Amino acid sequence: MQTSAAPDLQIVDLDPLTDDTLLDAWVAVGVESSRHEFGDRQTRYSAQEIRARQREVTDRRIELLAARVGEAVVGQVTLHLPLKDNLHFAHGDVTVHPDWRRRGIGSALLAEVEQRARQAGRTSLSIESEAAVGHADPAESFAPARGYRAALADLRSDLDLPDDLEPLLRDLETDARAHSAGYDVLTWWDGVPEEWLDQRAVLSARMSTDAPLGDLAVEEEVWDAERVRALYRVARAQGRRVVETVAVHRETGQAVAFTNLGIAEHTPQMAYQWDTLVLAEHRGHRLGQLVKAANLRALRAGLPEVRRVVTWNAESNAPMLRVNRALGFQPVGRMVEWQKSLT
Ligand SMILES: CC(C)(COP(=O)(O)OP(=O)(O)OC[C@H]1O[C@@H](n2cnc3c(N)ncnc32)[C@H](O)[C@@H]1OP(=O)(O)O)[C@@H](O)C(=O)NCCC(=O)NCCS
Repeated sequence: MQTSAAPDLQIVDLDPLTDDTLLDAWVAVGVESSRHEFGDRQTRYSAQEIRARQREVTDRRIELLAARVGEAVVGQVTLHLPLKDNLHFAHGDVTVHPDWRRRGIGSALLAEVEQRARQAGRTSLSIESEAAVGHADPAESFAPARGYRAALADLRSDLDLPDDLEPLLRDLETDARAHSAGYDVLTWWDGVPEEWLDQRAVLSARMSTDAPLGDLAVEEEVWDAERVRALYRVARAQGRRVVETVAVHRETGQAVAFTNLGIAEHTPQMAYQWDTLVLAEHRGHRLGQLVKAANLRALRAGLPEVRRVVTWNAESNAPMLRVNRALGFQPVGRMVEWQKSLT
């Protein structure tokens, strides 16, 4: 379709499974934008990851849009529409190539996202912005002027791993162990053993509401064993490795804490910290530190080429930030979730 914001701007649907050329140009917009903030610490998905996600994902519908001016792809959108829970909610990523900003392209893309979210029956929309430490975030003026309010602020922190991790891990584990008698740790790669799937589903459901959510209008996610299997199926199709550690309460046999790291094929030196959760009733035993240290040890043993871990935590999440500081994470950026009611 053509937009009124810029007469030569076209916003088109992108099917990542059939349009390789457009997908490559679309991915490049995201990479350039992320590089603009973070240089070689950019974190965008590869074309292969996006294709595999589109093929495999079942817990949401994903729509991709490209903004074009002539042959150039100048902006990109990913719209996420949850299908198993949060049916009132939509999340969009809107990015304009750094060379094409301040020409109304972001506004036109956002208007399109809002219209699609409304059409899908969604009443709340969140969009995300991220800026490096010391950079001004354009979204700070862009989003509020379009009716959005900051709902959640996350700190991005990176840990550059030393060649010898042992001294750090030993200290953390010794300290954690002194507070966590009665718990064991288990680590697995690239999938959850069948016998742990149900318990792991409980942890994911709790993760969706126990981590600070600020003012985001989201409800607890619905998880079962099949959704955990599906999560790993998507990761495998994307070529990602995943290492996960859980803490098990010996007395009850219950999995009460977990953490996982994902490693993308196209950035083999970088691991992404995904979830970390300690169930509320088991907090205060340094289990977060225990599982993170064990998981890092497993990562180093299994994928010694990984040199950096990237994580996002709510700025209000003091306990998690304390664990990460103890591990040596340094602040690198700030991410904001902006939210608007569509009613
Ligand atoms: C935020 C973003 C999408 C805006 O895209 P854009 O194409 O520049 O947006 P528009 O041209 O429609 O901007 C319209 C208005 O937003 C505000 N704005 C946008 N960028 C701004 C900046 N760097 N400084 C001050 N105001 C800015 C201005 O009011 C601007 O109007 P003006 O140019 O007439 O002053 C773009 O900067 C971007 O891709 N950033 C990285 C990804 C991101 O953060 N996306 C999430 C947005 S919530």
